[in-house]
Amino acid sequence: LKTSRTIGQTRRLLEGTGKPLVLVPTMGALHEGHAALIRRARREAGPSGTVAVSIFVNPAQFGPSEDFSVYPRPLARDLALCRSLGVDLVFVPPAARMYAPDASTFVEETTLSLPLCGRSRPGHFRGVCTVVAKLLNIFRPDVAVFGEKDWQQLAVIRRMVRDLDFPVRITGHPTHREHDGLATSSRNARLSPAERAAAPAIHAALRKAAASARSPQDAAARARRSIAAIPGARVDYVGAADAASLGPPRPGRPARLFAAVFLGRARLIDNIPLPRAARRKPTR
Ligand code: PAF
Repeated sequence: LKTSRTIGQTRRLLEGTGKPLVLVPTMGALHEGHAALIRRARREAGPSGTVAVSIFVNPAQFGPSEDFSVYPRPLARDLALCRSLGVDLVFVPPAARMYAPDASTFVEETTLSLPLCGRSRPGHFRGVCTVVAKLLNIFRPDVAVFGEKDWQQLAVIRRMVRDLDFPVRITGHPTHREHDGLATSSRNARLSPAERAAAPAIHAALRKAAASARSPQDAAARARRSIAAIPGARVDYVGAADAASLGPPRPGRPARLFAAVFLGRARLIDNIPLPRAARRKPTR
């Protein structure tokens, strides 16, 4: 496993490595969800391709009152996991190497970024787009892999890549879940034992609402009621949206149910597809 800390070193280490190059951008604190992304990257790269992982807790995507300073940074463990999964190169830049002190250029997607997490985390997707654009320029990967747990992030990145002609294929990988259905996340580590025991009820509520609802709006209302009743939970948002545009669900088009929930010190997000039946408008 090679590691690099600077952009120049990364580019030098990538010279002459096997193609295709597949990148998994992360903020570290790697868990089974990331391991699934890395395994997917290896499958995409094939035995002679190159798998690269970036580990960077990106200050630009955290709001002033968010968890940037306490975000876990277990680097030795992360590197051991990357080694065990056969990653070829890990890029771990210090923040000062990623952003010039007077950096004044940002990448902003202006439509898909607005609803859902965009509403409650202003500036978040601007930070994500800017750092992902930088990583795509640093690595010039053939493929980049992102998790579907952050469905909106994936949609925003696909749109940025399309609009700005980045020569990369974006691959989304299904959400990894714990045995009880909770979406695997670095933020789960912030839950107390009682909160951890309550947390799977978020996914359960989404599933039950999606299965029994007569329309996307009905699904969202049912899920919101159930999630609000979880002890200690505070709903940030629960909503149904078109899977591609993230706007209002459209008849006959794939739609998803989204939730963001504060549970103790953690903000958890999840999303699932709405089955066809729940996508129809009520007939009465
Ligand atoms: O999903 C994440 O971990 C981050 O938002 C990403 C894509 C690595 C950008 O910092």
